[in-house]
Amino acid sequence: MARKPSTRHSSNKMWGGRFSDRPDAVMEAINASIGFDQKLYAQDIAGSKAHATMLAEQGILSKGDAKAILKGLDTILSEIEAGKFQFSTALEDIHMNVEARLSELIGPAAGRLHTARSRNDQVAVDFRLWVKAQAEAMHGELGRLIDALLDHAEIHAATVMPGFTHLQTAQPVTFGHHCMAYVEMFARDRSRLTDAINRMDECPLGAAALAGTGFAIDRKATAKALGFREPTRNSLDSVSDRDFALEFLAFASICATHLSRMAEELVIWSTPQFNFVRMSDRFSTGSSIMPQKKNPDAAELIRAKTGRINGDLVALLTVMKGLPLTYSKDMQEDKEAVFDSAENLELAIAAMTGMVASMNINTDAMKLAAGSGFSIATDLADWLVRETGLPFREAHHVTGKAVALAEKKGCGLENLSLSELQKLNGRITAAVFDVLSVEKSVASRKSYGGTAPANVKRQAAYWRKQRAKESNRR
Ligand code: ARG
Repeated sequence: MARKPSTRHSSNKMWGGRFSDRPDAVMEAINASIGFDQKLYAQDIAGSKAHATMLAEQGILSKGDAKAILKGLDTILSEIEAGKFQFSTALEDIHMNVEARLSELIGPAAGRLHTARSRNDQVAVDFRLWVKAQAEAMHGELGRLIDALLDHAEIHAATVMPGFTHLQTAQPVTFGHHCMAYVEMFARDRSRLTDAINRMDECPLGAAALAGTGFAIDRKATAKALGFREPTRNSLDSVSDRDFALEFLAFASICATHLSRMAEELVIWSTPQFNFVRMSDRFSTGSSIMPQKKNPDAAELIRAKTGRINGDLVALLTVMKGLPLTYSKDMQEDKEAVFDSAENLELAIAAMTGMVASMNINTDAMKLAAGSGFSIATDLADWLVRETGLPFREAHHVTGKAVALAEKKGCGLENLSLSELQKLNGRITAAVFDVLSVEKSVASRKSYGGTAPANVKRQAAYWRKQRAKESNRR
């Protein structure tokens, strides 16, 4: 039965030498990665240019051929960027698509580009370059999210709100302190990226298929040309390793988890019941049936993105698990997970930054809620310990009685009379009322890392300085 060739290349001229039949259409479909790895075109061309330049420097390639190759690669780059390049499934992947086009453009000299190289080290270097650039971009984007949080932290260093445990009112904190908690989280995410970038900063190009090459290549030169710190040290590891992608995905999962927690809080806080924040119209949607509604869709989607991003990490961990050294075609399945996570995390960070920067803070609602739920009960207990010498456990008990009384009377602790308090413990004096306010409560929490406004301002200033140092370095 005659098969209709699906593309302009009917047999693979890159490896077709020992083959007499062309691949089955299904084989071609499962084998091809060009549908997604065309994303690596710029890295592939950069890698090839560095390789060709090095080959010429080493006298492995004539200067004339190298010149033709470099020129041809530049032409291909502009063809792809102009959307004029015709990608072919029969040519499997980005590497062979580029090389085939190069031979159309410059003839047989194109066939010399693959000297001392394999698609195994080629894909490893392309993908590393791509992941490294993404990691750097995301580091920058998280910096902008941190800036937006610092803006709120500075303005709201003394804005009281309830602090929660179990989502039950626990103790008053400041909104600035709450913002700074996320600054800490996103700063750790960035340092995870920095660590990962540092580890992936080694160039696998020149490991060739798996064992290195007999040609006198200069791996330090290609590493340097491609912006890597140094070449990788073991050729087998070079073509087998996908840790750099896994680390990126692990970072993405943790970061998405942080974003989802913040998104969840924004969803809760923007309900009419809480009313702590008002999302800007630019980051909300309406309901097609209920005219009063303003939905925090962006926050909900950020919360949801964690699902696919965690899935991507598990997908690649599972692909890599149990793979023998060195390259196996399984590893072609490394890319889509990373592309998907990168795209969605980038969007989530951008949406969070936009939401945070544009939301309005309802300080009155925060303050009202901060004082409810007997949030200053711990302050009363602490006062009893400090001023009357009661052991904390007893002070806790006395305070519990005070809370029960206030609850029965339907008032706050600060509204109980001195004689009512003295009935619970004779050593209580009028001075106790000095600590029974949410403002006094937060102001008193000056322990290192505590919520006192002075601390929050100091922490915000610290991170501002770190951010300024970064931009000076750039
Ligand atoms: N498309 C392949 C990938 O993404 C490139 C490497 C192919 N190497 C091979 N020996 N077949 O993994």
